Amino acid sequence: MLIDTHAHIDDEKFESDRDEVVARAKEAGLIKIINMGDSIASSRRAIALTEKYDIVYAGVGVHPEMIGEVQESDYALMAELAEKHDKVVAIGEIGLDYHYTKDNSEIQKNVFIRQLDVARQLNLPVSIHDRDAHGDLMTILKREGQGIRGTIHCYSGSAEMAKDLLKMGWYLGVDGPLTFKNAAKLPEVIATIPLERLLLETDCPYLAPVPKRGTRNEPAYVSYVAQKVAEIRGMSVTEISEITTQNALDLFGLN
Ligand code: NI
Repeated sequence: MLIDTHAHIDDEKFESDRDEVVARAKEAGLIKIINMGDSIASSRRAIALTEKYDIVYAGVGVHPEMIGEVQESDYALMAELAEKHDKVVAIGEIGLDYHYTKDNSEIQKNVFIRQLDVARQLNLPVSIHDRDAHGDLMTILKREGQGIRGTIHCYSGSAEMAKDLLKMGWYLGVDGPLTFKNAAKLPEVIATIPLERLLLETDCPYLAPVPKRGTRNEPAYVSYVAQKVAEIRGMSVTEISEITTQNALDLFGLN
C-alpha cells in the first residue's frame, strides 16, 4: 500500500491517458493520490479529478511561479473550494521559488503567507514548495508557521535544516531526485530522519525516478522512491510503505 502525496495528474501531459495512469497506480498498490493545484484553474481541475477517481484527493493552492495571476479574492475562493469539497485535504502547492528570479521575492513571500493563513483558518495541512529559498522559508515558518502542519515537498535542504523542520513538527516529502546519481546530500538526510516524518511522492509529471528518469513521471512510480528509501534504510519495501502510508493518512486526515 502506497500513497503519492504530491502529484499533478491534472497536467495536460495526462490528457490522453489519465484513466490508464490511474489504473496503473492502483495496480502498483497505490491507495491514494493527492493532486496538488498550482493555480486556481489547476486547483479546480484537481477537484474535478477527485469526483472522477475514487483514489484521487486534492490540494488547492497557487504555486510561486504562478502568482502573477493571483487576485485578492482568490484567498477567499481557495477557502470556499476547500470547504465545499470533502476531498480537498491540503492547501498546496504553495511556497517560494527563487531559482529563476528573486526579483519578486516580496510578492512571493506575501502570497505564501496569505495561503498559510488560509490553511490555518481551515485547519488543513500544507504542501510547501521550496526551491533555492531555504533561508526565507525557515524565517517564514518560524514566524508564521504556528498552528500549521504540513510537508516540505521534494525536500532539498541540508541535514541541519531537516533537523530544525522536524523539531517544528514538519514532514519531509521525497521523490525522484533521491534516486538520481547526483542526489548529493539527500540520501544522507533520508538515512537519518525519523521515518514517522517521511512522506513519499512523485511530483509527476516531473522528476521521474530512476529507472524511469527522463520520461513522464506518474503516480505508480512512487514505488521506485519507496525502494530507494528501503535500500538507504536497510529495511523492506513493505515496511517503508506501511510507515509512510500511515504518515500520509495521519497528516492529511485520511483513513
Ligand atoms: Ni509539485
